[in-house]
Amino acid sequence: MALKSDVLAIRDATTMAGEEEQTGLKRSISAAGLTAMGIGAIIGTGIYVVIGEGASVAGPAVILSFVLAGITCMFSALSYAELASSVPVSGSAYSYSYATMGELVAFIIGWDLILEYGVSCASIAIGWGGNFNAFLDAAFGFKIPDALAKSPGSGGYFNLPAVFIVLLVAALLIRGTRESATANLIMVGVKIVILVFFIIIAFTSFHSSNFHNFNAKGTHGIVSGAGIIFFAYIGFDAVSTASEESRQPERDLPIAVIGSLVVSTILYILVAVAAIGVAPLSVLTKKSSDAPLIDAFNYGIGWRWGTALLAVGAVIAITSVLLVIMYGQTRIFYSMARDGLLPKQMAQINQRFGTPAGLTLVMGIIIAVLSALIPLSAIIKLVNIGTLFAFVLVNAGVIILRHTRPDMKRPFRVPFSPVFPIIGLLLCFYLMHDLPLTTWYRFIVWLLVGLVVYFAYSRNHSKLRTQGAGSPSDLSGRPVTRLPRGMGRR
Ligand code: ALA
Repeated sequence: MALKSDVLAIRDATTMAGEEEQTGLKRSISAAGLTAMGIGAIIGTGIYVVIGEGASVAGPAVILSFVLAGITCMFSALSYAELASSVPVSGSAYSYSYATMGELVAFIIGWDLILEYGVSCASIAIGWGGNFNAFLDAAFGFKIPDALAKSPGSGGYFNLPAVFIVLLVAALLIRGTRESATANLIMVGVKIVILVFFIIIAFTSFHSSNFHNFNAKGTHGIVSGAGIIFFAYIGFDAVSTASEESRQPERDLPIAVIGSLVVSTILYILVAVAAIGVAPLSVLTKKSSDAPLIDAFNYGIGWRWGTALLAVGAVIAITSVLLVIMYGQTRIFYSMARDGLLPKQMAQINQRFGTPAGLTLVMGIIIAVLSALIPLSAIIKLVNIGTLFAFVLVNAGVIILRHTRPDMKRPFRVPFSPVFPIIGLLLCFYLMHDLPLTTWYRFIVWLLVGLVVYFAYSRNHSKLRTQGAGSPSDLSGRPVTRLPRGMGRR
């Protein structure tokens, strides 16, 4: 019985919302800055690389896969917006689960988020490498040989460009996040302009014949395609990891979460239509391609410098995704360490840089090794299933918190609750159910490893269990570690 009550221990949502006041962190990010952060986290490897695999599963109807995945994310974004505005702490879905479903579920979600944030960094970096090579090819007619640019499972030995970008971004995050945020803002501007450039140029060479047999793969193809290109939408929720640095989290987080998703969805649908229209499907779906969108443009337009420019856009876009997603992982680890579920050393702040340098370095090395050795397709679906599962719990969290804390201040409310959160939850399950069994097995193994960690370490170190953290007296105490100064500043 003791175990049962322990693992179901729930942190008080209002107390959690007050915790960020203890961090001493500057509230410097505006709504525009947060929205840029969202777009920075969203548009990257998904639209430049994963679109190829989506199109091979769904055919030209991959456009509808983008619509379906976008709608799924929109319902979940509303739930994120409600929880992020009501419980504006940096742990995102992990913190919301702590406030609604108890410590065990919270830990599992925190563990699960390692897939969405940590592991996905490896896939993002692989996408970066492919597009970097496409740039070298278009601009200089030279490519890094496959042996050094691909993982063993995809015809090489070692993905050097992926390792390079992971370590570079880790160094940037260690050096200082104020610089990182400024860099992100510039990269977001550039990536939007270059994608719009792609759309406009591709529409000048549009072949409607490419849309014949539009839905040859049927509904199943569209849903499977959505389960894959869902990857392209991951990141809008990363905004909520900056809650504690937002000037007006109650107002600005919903704007940023929903705003960044709307902008990305519109761009994605236009890019997908343009990509199908500009080149035959076989170009976009070529198995050996690491940069299918660039290939489609190059085939359809054949303008070398335009191709090089688009590839530069891809490289910049993916760099910003990596920056924000890796940053998000440090914040989730920070929140879990603050609650005692992970060793508190994990979020220790380096005196010189004011950032969690040790954590970022270790994370960077692990992600770099993963990206060097594992093929992209092996990671994408695992990342997707993990993220969809987190979204399921966030939707459930809204419904539960409305029952348990009907009185709580909710600056943003999901309309038509509980209908909308239930639709969001079901749509996530719908995309999950279509993912291959091997993905499910890997996911279950990952969660089981998490359970072992929880029962072997976290349960015994939990501040909630050992110190009653979350009680009013806790508010007068100092946090275990300080949040990194200036992370996400604009
Ligand atoms: N949505 C992000 C990307 O496509 C993860 O790279």
